[in-house]
Amino acid sequence: MNDRSHDPLAVTTVDTIEDVSGTYPGYRRVHARGLCFDATFTPSGEAAALTTAAHLQSAPTPVVVRFSNSNTNPTVHDGVRAGRGLAARFLLPDGTATDLVSVNVPVFFAATPGQFLEFLGALRKDPATGAPDPAKVRAYATAHPTAALALQEAGRMPIPVSYGTVRYWAVHAFVWVDPQGERRPVRYRWEPDTGLRELTEQEAADKDPEYLAEELVQRLADGPVGFTLHVQLGQEGDPTDDPTRPWPADRPEIVAGHLRITAPVADQEHWAAQVYDPTRITPGIELSDDPVLAFRSRAYAVSYERREASAGR
Ligand code: HEM
Repeated sequence: MNDRSHDPLAVTTVDTIEDVSGTYPGYRRVHARGLCFDATFTPSGEAAALTTAAHLQSAPTPVVVRFSNSNTNPTVHDGVRAGRGLAARFLLPDGTATDLVSVNVPVFFAATPGQFLEFLGALRKDPATGAPDPAKVRAYATAHPTAALALQEAGRMPIPVSYGTVRYWAVHAFVWVDPQGERRPVRYRWEPDTGLRELTEQEAADKDPEYLAEELVQRLADGPVGFTLHVQLGQEGDPTDDPTRPWPADRPEIVAGHLRITAPVADQEHWAAQVYDPTRITPGIELSDDPVLAFRSRAYAVSYERREASAGR
């Protein structure tokens, strides 16, 4: 594959990310710095009536988790308000896999891929200040009012004590298919066993630039780190095609299971080279009609090709 065989909008989007935030050869075009960990997911059994997905029945499934800082720069300091990712690959008994990719904000900045490109334009650095022009970001939010929520949430993202003390959302709606073939929309959220714990800006500034990965490795030496998978069940009329719009908070939820993270993976290079793709689903789970969800797979393919080419692999 080369750029000509990719979706042109995906190529333009990754070009624009590079243009706005810099190019770092060999790294993911966003979420550049990360570390991978061995884990096990144990289903609660509550999801089995609602989806036939193998990892949500009764047997534990091995998982490889990648925690990441969302920045494009792999040497950025962790001690600032920033996106953090928890990408989970469930290694299924039949040799296939399914991915669940989540971040520390509940909603996204754009309802469509085209809107995301517009948003990137608003983030271009003002040469006078070296930072995005707040007026352009405000103009974007005025033009796309539902995007304002993600901007607000991003403004109050905690600076975490640990990757293990953050709440992560998969943002998009997905569709579960139950044993009778009935479909219902769902949204996923990981809740940390420790509860949320954050640092003050001063405490964070005193930390090592890469403290989050270092902290997690140390924490695991004392025992596993856990997250509970909560699943919100959508109702008739809840939007499934728009990641900027949350569902009402009173929608019913189930606990689908528990993730127990145990140690860094032995082969970091192998796992760093993977693509955690939110469209890698498994029977019992379908994609919703969210256009951003489908688009991500095409953008990630462009990023993968560029990072692998520049890594010389
Ligand atoms: C138009 C929308 C989006 C674009 C263009 C985009 C772009 C990208 C790209 C290029 C990568 C690097 C892929 C790779 O090289 O493997 C990436 C990674 C990632 N994205 Fe997105 N993204 C979008 C939306 C989202 C959303 C809505 C979420 C929320 C869950 C998200 C969460 C992540 C995470 C956690 C990673 C790191 C995955 C890993 O650890 O490998 N992204 N994104």
